[in-house]
Amino acid sequence: MADHHHSNHHGHHHHGAGQDDEAAMAELLDLDAEVLQSYLSDVTAWIHELTADLPARRILDLGAGTGAGALALLQRFEGAEVIAMDMSASHLRHLEGKARALGVAERIRTVQADLDAAWPAVDTVELAWASNSLHHMADPDRVLANVFAALRPGGRLVAVELDSFPRFLPHDLGLGRPGLEERCHAVMDERRAAELPHIGSDWGARLAKAGFTVQAEKTFVIELTPPLPTATGRYAQASLRRLRSGLDGRLSAEDLATLDTLVDSDGPDSVLRRDDLTVRAVRTAWVARRP
Ligand SMILES: C[S@@+](CC[C@H](N)C(=O)[O-])C[C@H]1O[C@@H](n2cnc3c(N)ncnc32)[C@H](O)[C@@H]1O
Repeated sequence: MADHHHSNHHGHHHHGAGQDDEAAMAELLDLDAEVLQSYLSDVTAWIHELTADLPARRILDLGAGTGAGALALLQRFEGAEVIAMDMSASHLRHLEGKARALGVAERIRTVQADLDAAWPAVDTVELAWASNSLHHMADPDRVLANVFAALRPGGRLVAVELDSFPRFLPHDLGLGRPGLEERCHAVMDERRAAELPHIGSDWGARLAKAGFTVQAEKTFVIELTPPLPTATGRYAQASLRRLRSGLDGRLSAEDLATLDTLVDSDGPDSVLRRDDLTVRAVRTAWVARRP
């Protein structure tokens, strides 16, 4: 099932701390898919409706991660197969395990490739999906040109990007100064803007520049309130831990201590135990047609 194109560009991801990072990221991506299942169902239903003319038999997932989109698309597009591309071999192995457990392994092919490097040879597809991956690319416009070429005329690319990272906490936690989560995100947004220059860019305009016709754009506002999916506490913990790791020295000692209390698995204030969590997330999707 695996069709690995090796690349040395990101070899540092496979050693030491990088491995822990990837494992933590894989867990976060899985929890994201589990907790936001209803959003995934909504977005794939919307795409299914907008591509009724195709039909989509072969789907390309760009930056597939652990397969949130690939597996949801397989479920929605009966009879289709998915080519899941990612530069992370460990994410793809994880995705293969999930596909086997769901009994859909024969409908998924994984391709390890750095999409910023040489574009792997793939069959023409009717549908491509890039969820929260384009902003990671060094040169998204080149990636869009390659996707354009990989689509048959009339085929669609669906690009999904985060408007904001998910929020979980009430404004006043009853612990320390109110507004902790917003202060954390303000710091991280600033860091990301420097490290990921394409985050938040005008994807509709970039798709048009690459030759696509934007067929539809939709913003999905996700607001989960109790009763929440059972994985919500672990999702909040994994998300806040990831935030926490970038905040040393950038937030007051009091805020850092409060955050440590929240992400710790033990204690009454752990997010695993709090009953005042919600999930607020916003994602925008563009459906773009290759004329
Ligand atoms: C935030 S994750 C999104 C994963 C998945 N699409 C989802 O929605 O759950 C971004 C993914 O893009 C992959 N990625 C980032 N840069 C890449 C590149 N240059 N080539 C291939 N994959 C890349 C990462 O390995 C990661 O799996």
